[in-house]
Amino acid sequence: MSFDRKIKIAPSILSADFANFGQEIQAIEAQGADWVHVDVMDGHFVPNLTFGPPAVKAFRPHVKTVMDVHLMITPVDPYIQAYADAGADYLTAHVEAGPHTHRTLQAIRAAGMKAGVALNPGTPAEAVEHLLDLADLVCVMTVNPGFGGQKFIDMTAKVSRLRELIGDRPVHIEIDGGVDTTTAPLVAAAGADVLVAGSAVFKGGSVANPDVYGQNIRAIRAAAEGHAV
Ligand code: DX5
Ligand code: ZN
Repeated sequence: MSFDRKIKIAPSILSADFANFGQEIQAIEAQGADWVHVDVMDGHFVPNLTFGPPAVKAFRPHVKTVMDVHLMITPVDPYIQAYADAGADYLTAHVEAGPHTHRTLQAIRAAGMKAGVALNPGTPAEAVEHLLDLADLVCVMTVNPGFGGQKFIDMTAKVSRLRELIGDRPVHIEIDGGVDTTTAPLVAAAGADVLVAGSAVFKGGSVANPDVYGQNIRAIRAAAEGHAV
C-alpha cells in the first residue's frame, strides 16, 4: 500500500475519563477516530504524570485502529521493550529527551514498532534533519508538553520546513497540542497529516453521549481537509 498522507484524527485519551479508558477508546473509534493517541508522562521530562506500560498494555485490546504512544519521559531506551510488549504501533520519543535519539529510533524499530520523534516548540526542524531516514513520524508540539487544553502555539513555519526536509520519505507529520477547527487548517496547509486532539474531541461528550465525539472529530477533519497538501 502506498504511503497514506490523508488527514488522520488522533484523539488524545489524556482528555478521556481516566476511570473508563476502555469504553472511551471504543467510543472514539466508533465515532471515526483514525488513531488513538496515548500520552505517557513521567513527572520529570514534563511536570505531569500519567501512566506507564501496564496501563498501555491494558488499553491495547480496546484499540482496533493504531495505538500511537507519545513518550514524554527521560530516559527512553530502558522502556522501549516494555512499550513493544504493551502493543504500541507507533512509539514517539522527544529529541530533547537525551543525547542519542539516533540510537533510540533504531531501537524502537528493532523492537518492531514504527518510530516517531517529537520536537518541543523551541526546537528547530533541523534538529531532526539527520534522523529522517530512521523515523516514520515527526511530531511537532504546538504546546509545551505536559497538559491538555493549552493554547495553540503557531508552528506552521516549522511544519513547512519539515515538509521540505522530509521530501518523498514515508514520514508522517503529526501535530500535538491545541488542535481544533480553527488551528487544524493552518497545520494541514503546511503539510501535517496526523492531527492529535484532546480537548477538542472530548469536549461536550461522554461514553453515554458519544455522538458529540463524532461531531467534534468530523468538524476537525472537515476544517483540515480543505487545506491538506
Ligand atoms: C500534551 C499532549 C497532548 C495533549 C493534547 O503534552 O502531548 O497530546 O493531550 O491536548 P489538547 O488537544 O487538549 O491540546
Ligand atoms: Zn501527545
